[in-house]
Amino acid sequence: MKDLKIDFQNTGVEEEAILKYSEKVAEIHNELYSKADDEKEFLGWLKLPTDYDKKEFKRIEKAAKKVQRDSDVFLVIGIGGSYLGARAVVEAMTSNFATAIPDEQSKYPKVIFAGNNLNPDYVNDIIEFIGDRDLSINVISKSGTTTEPAIAFRIFREFLENKYGIEEARSRIYVTTDKKKGALKQLADREGYEEFVIPDNVGGRYSVLTAVGLLPIAVAGIDIDKLMQGALSAQNKYAEENLKYNDCYKYAVVRNILYGKDKNIELLVDYEPKLHYFIEWWKQLFGESEGKDLKGIFPAGVEFTTDLHSMGQYIQQGRRNLFETVLNVEKSKTDIKIESDEDNLDGLNYLVGKTLDYVNKKAMEATIKAHVDGDVPNTLITMEKLDEENLGQLIYFFELACAMSGKLLGVNPFNQPGVEAYKTNMFKLLGKPGYENK
Ligand code: PA5
Repeated sequence: MKDLKIDFQNTGVEEEAILKYSEKVAEIHNELYSKADDEKEFLGWLKLPTDYDKKEFKRIEKAAKKVQRDSDVFLVIGIGGSYLGARAVVEAMTSNFATAIPDEQSKYPKVIFAGNNLNPDYVNDIIEFIGDRDLSINVISKSGTTTEPAIAFRIFREFLENKYGIEEARSRIYVTTDKKKGALKQLADREGYEEFVIPDNVGGRYSVLTAVGLLPIAVAGIDIDKLMQGALSAQNKYAEENLKYNDCYKYAVVRNILYGKDKNIELLVDYEPKLHYFIEWWKQLFGESEGKDLKGIFPAGVEFTTDLHSMGQYIQQGRRNLFETVLNVEKSKTDIKIESDEDNLDGLNYLVGKTLDYVNKKAMEATIKAHVDGDVPNTLITMEKLDEENLGQLIYFFELACAMSGKLLGVNPFNQPGVEAYKTNMFKLLGKPGYENK
């Protein structure tokens, strides 16, 4: 496995300016590592690639094999940190049209997601999609009380019980939640569902490398061992306290410097539609970790070249408060050669013999240059290919960078107090007992 390559030369930030943060970074690094084993600190993700629960990992692999044998569809119910990581990896590693491939041609169950919105059409479309197919469910909620997944689970549990009867439905339900508390935990204990644990010291948005992400990812036929190996190599590489040799911390510092220059929106860019949900995962990671105390870089995502035809104008010439981080996949999994056409009516014969990936890469190079010239600083993150090991590295890279970046900003990157505000209003409007006078 090759290491990620991080290129800061188009950020407009000099190495000297970055290294001025060395002392501060070392201080935060030592603070993070000294608290890593403290159950109260939400730092469990820091050593997860070495300290994960090996017994549970085997149970995840076993459960995934059972689902692969007895189900055509695996419905993952969860929201925010309880689904985005799984979806990011599943979509990055499977066909762009995985759910449309006929079952007899699919080696693994189709992994689909519910409980991440409250829209009735979405739920009915899933019911229609499932049709006569065999189904298992994984409901994921750390608190065990989040409204969206709780409602979806109530609906799909009944659906499953009607389809298979209560006994068989029990063997098709997998619950990922807290090890002791919450309504979901109680329900799972009472019904005897197979349970997986979200460790106390791992927050939702940092939980993809626990059962939260690993079970759905394994069901989709993706090698979770390799995913962990990739994360482990990043854990080792970025455990370096010296900023000079740590690109992960440099990324955090560059963000901080750019933020200080009023660059308060970061665009994470991909040239691979399969990375769409990786960007969604990243948006939550940074948005929820840093957006507080009236501070924070707004994390946004764009997919090129698609969005160059919709957002390109703004990025090139709109308000100059943007910077970009580009995810570059060095080798595409497959490629297509552009063939000659005698008539050349489309004028494309100048590309004969070139491949689509080559054109995509030239579009990337051209766009980076145009945007940098237009005062959009650019960091380029290159991974060799889109596989489990590289995704594992990338996940760990961003989690650690996010922790460092939040600390540099002076916020607590592990809480999310603001998420509660809408819930209080919604519960009052819905008449939830206890919310009448809020
Ligand atoms: O990162 C977070 O803490 C949140 O996004 C949660 O993951 C999300 O709100 C879902 O919470 P829960 O897993 O408790 O249902």
